[in-house]
Amino acid sequence: MKILVTGGAGFIGSHACKALKAAGHEPVVLDNLRTGHRWAVRYGPFEHGDILETSRIAALMRKHEIEAVMHFAALAYVGESISQPDAYYQTNVVGTLSLLDAMRLAGVNRFIFSSTCATFGNVDHHISEADPQNPINPYGASKLMVERILRDYASAFGIASVALRYFNAAGSDPDGELGEIHDPETHLIPITLFVAGGMRDKLNVFGTDYDTPDGTCVRDYIHVCDLADAHAAALGVLEAGTFKAFNLGNGNGFSVRQVIDRAEAITGKPIAWEASPRREGDPPSLVADATAARAALGWHPRYPSLDDMIAHSWDFLTEHRARLPES
Ligand code: UFG
Repeated sequence: MKILVTGGAGFIGSHACKALKAAGHEPVVLDNLRTGHRWAVRYGPFEHGDILETSRIAALMRKHEIEAVMHFAALAYVGESISQPDAYYQTNVVGTLSLLDAMRLAGVNRFIFSSTCATFGNVDHHISEADPQNPINPYGASKLMVERILRDYASAFGIASVALRYFNAAGSDPDGELGEIHDPETHLIPITLFVAGGMRDKLNVFGTDYDTPDGTCVRDYIHVCDLADAHAAALGVLEAGTFKAFNLGNGNGFSVRQVIDRAEAITGKPIAWEASPRREGDPPSLVADATAARAALGWHPRYPSLDDMIAHSWDFLTEHRARLPES
């Protein structure tokens, strides 16, 4: 299938392109390169452009005879969304509406959407699709709005869509072709590894007084290649006029302190850290119940171990350090 991958030059989008190509599909990347990387587009054609350019995107879909869209392009920093909600609603909601308009113009009716566990807010148990969604930051709210739009577009316009709600994406391509490079980098595992690699002095641990076993936040880390595989599998469950959503995680929670401990063990380097105030918008714990995705998509994570995720990221960091922005 020919698939338009918005944000295909970014971290998760580029890994999805590799998985799509391996599954026999043809990914066409659309990216404005604001946060994506041209070098990460390796598995099909590249179109430089923005999801807000509705008529141009429709023309691109016709030109490449696109049959489905995977939509990764978004702003995705929880903290930034609190200070700049306008940018988040503009890019994530208005941008997605523009992309959906382009699909309707071009007659494309299959859509896979990058959603997030941040649509749920504070939940103190393994989160299933049946749990209520009450986001506590504009990032999560913007993604939930799109889920609602997709539900309505499915029944009104027949667009088949699947929303995949990622828990914490981590790791990198074990072949070393792709990896995680964000500027600025705000995510826990890369920053922890920057400290191990001597690129930063210390890690600030945001909040040590949460109601969790060691007082630090708990997250469910999921390997980016496993997320990518789930996207390829989701193409098989698209159904005309229907919206479906799945949570993608491993069902195992790790605290910030546990991540630091594992990173020290895997890198063999000491990781200096300092207790810092809580970061606004952070739920104490987010852990998936991903049984529905496993059953419906036939999806089985290949790299469920946190150690593998940290090791793959460490390999990428040590081999590709020159590409990283100054921190
Ligand atoms: N953390 C620190 N210090 C840091 C960076 C992070 O203590 O320097 C902590 C955070 O407070 C959080 C945990 O490490 O408790 C994980 O933080 P990340 O920034 O790595 O990830 P988030 O959980 O904030 O965000 C991720 C994705 C979002 C997604 C969100 C769901 O980046 O896209 O999970 O909450 F929506």
